[in-house]
Order: sequence, then structure tokens, then C-alpha cells
Amino acid sequence: MQRMKIIGTGSYLPDLVVTNQMMASVVETSDEWITSRTGISQRHLSSGEPTWFMAVEAARKGMEAAGVLTEAIDVIIVTTCTPDYYLPSTACIVQAELGASKAICFDLNAACSGFVYALDMAARYLQDLSIEHVLIIASENVSKLVDYGDRSICVLFGDGAGAVVCARAGQEDDSALLATQLGSEGQNGQVLVSRALKISHPFLADGAVWPDRFGSHEDHTLTMEGQEVFKFAVRVLADSVLETVAKAGVDLAQLRYIIPHQANERISDAAARRMKAEPEQIISRIADLGNTSSASIPLCLDELIRSGRLDRGDMVAICGFGAGLTYGAALFVY
Ligand code: COA
Repeated sequence: MQRMKIIGTGSYLPDLVVTNQMMASVVETSDEWITSRTGISQRHLSSGEPTWFMAVEAARKGMEAAGVLTEAIDVIIVTTCTPDYYLPSTACIVQAELGASKAICFDLNAACSGFVYALDMAARYLQDLSIEHVLIIASENVSKLVDYGDRSICVLFGDGAGAVVCARAGQEDDSALLATQLGSEGQNGQVLVSRALKISHPFLADGAVWPDRFGSHEDHTLTMEGQEVFKFAVRVLADSVLETVAKAGVDLAQLRYIIPHQANERISDAAARRMKAEPEQIISRIADLGNTSSASIPLCLDELIRSGRLDRGDMVAICGFGAGLTYGAALFVY
């Protein structure tokens, strides 16, 4: 158990809402197919705003809710697999925009599991008594990776950002990170791929560039073996939540909420059945937001808190899964 408390959350969603009907105007699909196979009715897509901007907006709201001044932030972690720049990191851009001059800043890419990895990392930083506040922001413009001619992919994803301010919990607080269970399965990385820039310089011999490790990816557009990802997701979602619960020595029924990464309603439902969770424990915003990669869990958390549905002392499990492959669950008392 680590004494950590979430003291503020924030989020940002672009104004542009793309419905399933609008999707049907660019690819051969239907509202009926998308809702029945995924639970998604609409998604927000960037109206032009970059990943760093969404991160800053979410962070500002999170810090306002936490009542923390920018000078008090010691660490900024941005989780993103859709940054605007290779360099500088999105976290450094956020630092400049916020004026959080004493923070150390870096990006973390664990794909859709990024937020859970960052929460685990924040708790470890907070064991160092010189660190008082860690700002985690998950910001994703997944639309940048999507081929809007590929109907099996483009209907799934949305854009947005969520932020969480973490602090060390006081002796009087019940708040704590009770357990985490992270994992990676790099041997199955080919099921979800987006390629980065290729090697290109004037001194390369003809044909010297190695072929794509995962097949024949010519550019950055996302490829996915949907059914393989589906099976992986159901397995790791259920098993990692159950492992955190077992590690913490609590019963699943004691959890007020389980927040799965929002990828597909059918994944969440199947995992809930596998772990024998009650439907009312499972949080879903998939219908309105689609899959916003690492932002999906903090977007749900922020909504729960702002709508007054999460109380101090409530026990919550979160679980991410995604490209890598990566997965991770965390169990905490809010
Ligand atoms: N609209 C209409 N038809 C579509 C479609 C769309 N948007 N996308 C695919 N189809 C078609 C396919 O072409 C296929 O047609 P065919 O039978 O004539 O070949 C048919 O629907 C079934 O495709 P299939 O891929 O078997 O569907 P599915 O039930 O597995 O659902 C996913 C596809 C992508 C929704 C599902 O596999 C999934 O959600 N996987 C996990 C993806 C995920 O969460 N990724 C991110 C993880 S972080």
C-alpha cells in the first residue's frame, strides 16, 4: 500500500462531435453495426487543437480542482502515443504553458495502458519525501493515426484528454494506492501497430533500410487484428483486476467502481462476466467518447468525481490494455 491521494481531476474534449451517421458518410458502415458491435454512438475528434493544447486545458482544470499552484508541481507525466512532436516532449510543452518551472517533465508511451502505468509511477515518486505533487495528463489525438478509409478502425477511436493531480496522503487520510498489477506482452506486438518515421539519410546504400518488423507498414496509420486484441483485452482486464484485489486482500464486491479502458462495450461486458463483477460497478463512457486511448480512464474518473458519484473512501479499480501489448490495473481508495 502506498499513501497517495488524488486531489484534483480535469478533462478536455474537442467541440467536434462525429456521430455514427457522420461516419457512414465516409465509409460503408451503419449506426446499427457500430452500436451493436462496439457500443459507440459518437466520438469527439480534434477540431484542430493539438495534443499539447488538450493536455494543458485538462491540466488547468485538474489543478484548479486540486487547489494547487503551478509552482507546487514536482513532476509532470504526459501519457500519449499521439504527440505533436518527437521533441520536445508534450510534458515539457505543458510545463512551459503552465509555468510549472520546478517540475521534471517527460512523456510516457504505454499506449492505452499509459495512465495506469503513470499512476503506478506517481506513487513511487511520492515515496520520495522531496516530491509533493505529481501531475499526470493523458492526452490523445488518436484521429492522427487513423485511416478514415478503414471502416474496421476509424469508427472506434476518439480524441480527448484527462488529468489527475496526485499528492502524498496524510496520516488522517484513508486514501491510498492499495495495489497495482502491470504487465507487457511484447511478443504479441504485431496485433496493434502504428509505424514511426523511417531511416532516411544521404549515406544509405540502396535497399539498406530494413523491412517493417511487423509486416508491411508504409506509414503511421494504425493496423489492428481486432479479434486478437479483443481476446487479449478480456483476459487481461479481468485477470489483472482480480490480481490487484487479491494482492490487497479485499473482495471484488467491496469495489464501488471498476473503470476499464474504454475500447468496446462488449470487451467490458465480457470481462465483467469473467471477473463476476456487478454491472453497476462497471463504468462506461464508450457510447459518447469511443476509444480515447490512455485518456479514457481519467476522462471517466473526472466525470465520476464532477458528477458527485465518487466519495472519499470509495474503493476503485482501473484497468488499461492496449498496444505493446501492455496492460495494467490499479486499485485505490479515493
Ligand atoms: N461497419 C460495417 N461492417 C464492418 C465494419 C464497420 N465499421 N468494420 C468491420 N466490418 C465488417 C467486416 O468487414 C466483416 O465483414 P465480412 O464478414 O464481410 O468480412 C464483418 O464486419 C465482421 O468483422 P469482424 O472483424 O469479424 O468483426 P468483429 O465482430 O470482430 O468486430 C471489432 C470488429 C474491431 C469491433 C472488434 O474485433 C473489436 O472491438 N476488437 C478490439 C479492438 C480494440 O478494442 N482495439 C483497441 C484496443 S486498445
